[in-house]
Amino acid sequence: MKVSDVAKPMQAILVSSRAEIKTKFSPEPEVKDNIFTLCWHMPVSFDPPLFAISAGKARYSSKLIKESKVFVVNFMDLKHEKEVVFCGTNSGEHIDKFKETGLEKEEAEKIDCVRIKQASGFLECKVVNEVDAGDHIVFIGEVLNMDLKKTKNRMFSEDDRFTTTK
Ligand SMILES: Cc1cc2nc3c(=O)[nH]c(=O)nc-3n(C[C@H](O)[C@H](O)[C@H](O)COP(=O)(O)O)c2cc1C
Repeated sequence: MKVSDVAKPMQAILVSSRAEIKTKFSPEPEVKDNIFTLCWHMPVSFDPPLFAISAGKARYSSKLIKESKVFVVNFMDLKHEKEVVFCGTNSGEHIDKFKETGLEKEEAEKIDCVRIKQASGFLECKVVNEVDAGDHIVFIGEVLNMDLKKTKNRMFSEDDRFTTTK
């Protein structure tokens, strides 16, 4: 049994990030936009509005968020299951997940980061704290801008099975 089993099913979200970073192919830093799937997340404060995500230390996204100190939480409908699974099973270190999935970019308004156009809602977050949590880092983000277009049909995950609320 894993510690996360007690919390299933959990809402699967997509976290997008952007950082200027050196890659294997370019000696000069270049701007990278990335997306990864995340189930370990929660709101942690009303005032100020804070939202926490727990990201594996080995994730490319963790490297980008550590560098830029910003991220966007994108809420996805069940109809985007294929894209969510792809972003959760492939690293963005050597591929462009926007290109591969067809998810479209939208500029965030309050932070220098990318949002996902197809999302049903978003939280634009600026990192105010990072907690070392074993093999993960908990990034606590202050929510500087948010919108929830709709709250139905969100995507929940239990291992490789997905479900939704009505
Ligand atoms: C349904 C699902 C939920 C996931 N939840 C998390 C999570 O909460 N935290 C995390 O670090 N990785 C989670 N992952 C794994 C990452 O999304 C995966 O390792 C991804 O390829 C990392 O991409 P990156 O290297 O481009 O950052 C999840 C994967 C799936 C499929």
